[in-house]
Amino acid sequence: MENLLIVDDNEDVLTQLKWGLASELYTLHLATRVDQALEVFGKVSPGVVTLDLGLPPHADTSEEGFRCLAEMLKINPAAKVIVVTGNDERENALQAIKLGAFDFFRKPIDLDELRVIIRRAFHLHAIERENTEQKGAAEAAAMDNYGIVGACPAMRGVLNLIGKVAASDVPILVSGESGTGKELVARAIHAGSLRRKGPMVCINCGAIPENLIESELFGHEKGAFTGAVSTVQGKVEYASGGTLFLDEIGELPVNLQVKLLRFLQEMVIQRVGGRKDIPVNVRIVAATNIDIAAAIAAGTFREDLYYRIGVVNIHLPPLREREGDVHLLADYFLGRIAAELGKNVSGFSPDALVGLETYSWPGNIRELENRLRRAVLLADSSLVTSAELGFEENGGGQHNGFSFGDRTLKEARAMVEKKMIVAALAKHEGNIVKASEALGISRPTMYDLIRKHGLGER
Ligand SMILES: Nc1ncnc2c1ncn2[C@@H]1O[C@H](COP(=O)(O)OP(=O)(O)OP(=O)(O)O)[C@@H](O)[C@H]1O
Ligand SMILES: [Mg+2]
Repeated sequence: MENLLIVDDNEDVLTQLKWGLASELYTLHLATRVDQALEVFGKVSPGVVTLDLGLPPHADTSEEGFRCLAEMLKINPAAKVIVVTGNDERENALQAIKLGAFDFFRKPIDLDELRVIIRRAFHLHAIERENTEQKGAAEAAAMDNYGIVGACPAMRGVLNLIGKVAASDVPILVSGESGTGKELVARAIHAGSLRRKGPMVCINCGAIPENLIESELFGHEKGAFTGAVSTVQGKVEYASGGTLFLDEIGELPVNLQVKLLRFLQEMVIQRVGGRKDIPVNVRIVAATNIDIAAAIAAGTFREDLYYRIGVVNIHLPPLREREGDVHLLADYFLGRIAAELGKNVSGFSPDALVGLETYSWPGNIRELENRLRRAVLLADSSLVTSAELGFEENGGGQHNGFSFGDRTLKEARAMVEKKMIVAALAKHEGNIVKASEALGISRPTMYDLIRKHGLGER
């Protein structure tokens, strides 16, 4: 059970609160003096504190209250301290917020209102704790998953499948748009296989001139052609004992597809200009960003080769279809890139969060990584802005890749409203006063919106 600490020098108030809050789901602790309050605070580490600012020995000023607030936040910055002030002490209340108080409350005490504020404070406290735990967990999970970050159902399926097939020797075809992480997945498969100590050799089938591919793949004997001054091993032979990664397999010329198929059937190669059969022991992982079924229909890809390499197909969805992962990936890259560049950038401004979420990411994860690298380089504050991410260059609207899908205007508005509130609360660490000020709305409106979007008490 959570702990609530109530600090007030007035016994009547304490009694009123003790009865008024007795039915709530937290354990109450009471204190009447600063030293006592700090002792309890250190001992039970309350998530939420209500703190009367006028405490003895200077009960008529806020001096002791401010001191107590500062000490508490020094001990535990995550605690939510709600200050309680007299009716005419607006200045003190605002000063307390500046010092890091979560919210303020004026005497005389309205119990209903106070209950809502306290519940809200506990709720945020719990979310923040979850977030910190989750951040650590996300990094740990990325490590467990060979650096593949993703929590959406499709990506969890991908990770699960990698876990199942990596250790076997079955050939795997990884498909997905450009920048979706095909090579990363190929590396994960290699790292998760029994061949992990062997080599992983990559061949980009689309990047080698056609007349050189064969010798590149299979090697050549001395004198096989002009310029072949010595015998050279091909990449397939180099990969023996490990994994052969055939990138852009859809671009392999048809005559070489035949040769590759023969090799896959027999697991022996002949160097160009040679006669000897050389056995090789490799595991094949291929990748493609073109639709192989369409290529087969068009006659540019051999169906029999497809059956050989595509025993298991791992499809990587485009980033725009990975619900929730953009944010996860953005946090992951931001942390890594900021550390790498030694810049103190720790989060995203509200407009940047909206941009990340609504942009359509044609270049997928590679584009996200590149935009973040640029943004971190440009960032002048601790929060990356939408402009730094390059979202505002072509004047907004649909032309720069934003997509609101088939939402109605009302749904789109609600979506942006919710995202901005979440972002403002996150930026101001759950502080309602600061968050509502930043959004230009009143505190009651803020509470209404929090309730409307289900961000309030559970
Ligand atoms: N889920 C992910 N988690 C973390 N990083 C990722 C993820 N997916 C991709 N990346 C990173 O994004 C970049 C692009 O990934 P990768 O090169 O694997 O994509 P690809 O599909 O092979 O792209 P292309 O088709 O352009 O060759 C790499 O830096 C990679 O580490
Ligand atoms: Mg690639």
